[in-house]
Amino acid sequence: MDQNQKQLASPHLSWRLRLFLSAFSFAVDASRHSNGTLNRRFINLLDFKSPPLTKPHKNLKSSDVVVDSSRNLWFRLYTPTASASATTLPVIVFFHGGGFAFMASNSKPYDDFCQKLARELPAVVVSVNYRLTPDHRYPCQYDDAFDVLKFMENDGHYFEGANLKQCFLAGDSAGGNIAHHVALRCSGHVFQNLKVVGILSIQPFFGGEERTEPERRLVGVPVVNLERTDWMWRAFLPEGSDRDHPAANVFGPKSEDISGSDYPATIVFVGGFDPLQEWQKRYYEGLKKSGKEAELVYYPNAIHTFYAFPELEECAVFFNKVRDFVQLQTASRQNIK
Ligand SMILES: *[C@@H]1O[C@H](CO)[C@@H](O)[C@H](O)[C@H]1NC(C)=O
Repeated sequence: MDQNQKQLASPHLSWRLRLFLSAFSFAVDASRHSNGTLNRRFINLLDFKSPPLTKPHKNLKSSDVVVDSSRNLWFRLYTPTASASATTLPVIVFFHGGGFAFMASNSKPYDDFCQKLARELPAVVVSVNYRLTPDHRYPCQYDDAFDVLKFMENDGHYFEGANLKQCFLAGDSAGGNIAHHVALRCSGHVFQNLKVVGILSIQPFFGGEERTEPERRLVGVPVVNLERTDWMWRAFLPEGSDRDHPAANVFGPKSEDISGSDYPATIVFVGGFDPLQEWQKRYYEGLKKSGKEAELVYYPNAIHTFYAFPELEECAVFFNKVRDFVQLQTASRQNIK
C-alpha cells in the first residue's frame, strides 16, 4: 500500500459537502415513515429538477422520450453534438440510484452526472426514469428497465449516431442493482439490433440478512446506514421476504447459479467509506467464480455517491477509469456493427 492507498480514519470532505450530504440525508429520513410509506410531496419539494437541453449546450443536447405514459416510464436521452470521431458512439443505459424510492432522471444531481458522462466519454446516454417504491415494488423497476431496452431495439431512430451493438448497462447504488438483474434478463432474450457489451456497476446496492463488518463499523458516514438500507429493502422486496431474497443478496443462499448466463464484462466501483462495500466485493467475487469477466476498482477514501461531486479527487479518476473500460470493451468488438 502506498501513501495514496492509505485509508483515513474518516473521509476528508469540505464542510460545504458535509452540510449538503447531511441536508440530503435529513430530507430522506424526514420523508420516510416507519410503517413503510413515503411523503412524496415533501421529498419532491427538495428534489430539484432540471429541464432537458433542448438547445445544444457545450456540445450536448438532451430530450425526454416517453416509453409508456400509463406508468410514467420515460428516459432522458443525451446526445453529443460534436462527435469528432467518424465512428458511431457507444450507448450507456443508465439507472439512477436512490434506494429504489428516491430521485428521478431529471433530478439535478443525476442530470448533471449524465451530462458529464455523455460529454466525457463521449457516449449517447439513456437515463431511465423507472417507477419507485413503496408504491411500486420489486420487480417493477427491473420490468421498466428491461422494457426500455426493448423500446430501444424497436425504435432505433431515436438513437442516430449511436451504435446500439455497443450498449453498456450502468447504474449507481440501486441503479447498479437494476443493471445486474437487467443483464440477466438480457441473457435470456434475443435482441436483433442491440447488444449489451459491458456493465458499469457504481457502488451497487446489494445486501442480505448478515450484518457485514463494514456495515457494523461505518456508522455515521455520509448517506448510507443500516436503518436506511433496511427500510429500503423492506419497501422494495415482496411482503414477507427477508434480505436474502435473490434481488438483494445476488450471490447468497437463495440466489441462482448464473455461470450459464451470457453476462457481459463488468467493472465494479467500491469506496472505502461505503458501508455496502462487503456486498459489492462479494458481487465481484461471485461474478469471477461464475466465470465472468469482472474488475474491481477500490477507492479507499471514497464515500457512497462520491462520483457526483467533482470536488472529490476520486471523481476525476473515476471518469477516466470509466472511459478506459468503455474504450476497451468497444475496441474488442470493433468489427460488430
Ligand atoms: C404511515 O405513517 C404516517 C406518518 O406517521 C401516516 O401519516 C400514514 O397515514 C401512515 N400510513 C399507513 C398506511 O399506516
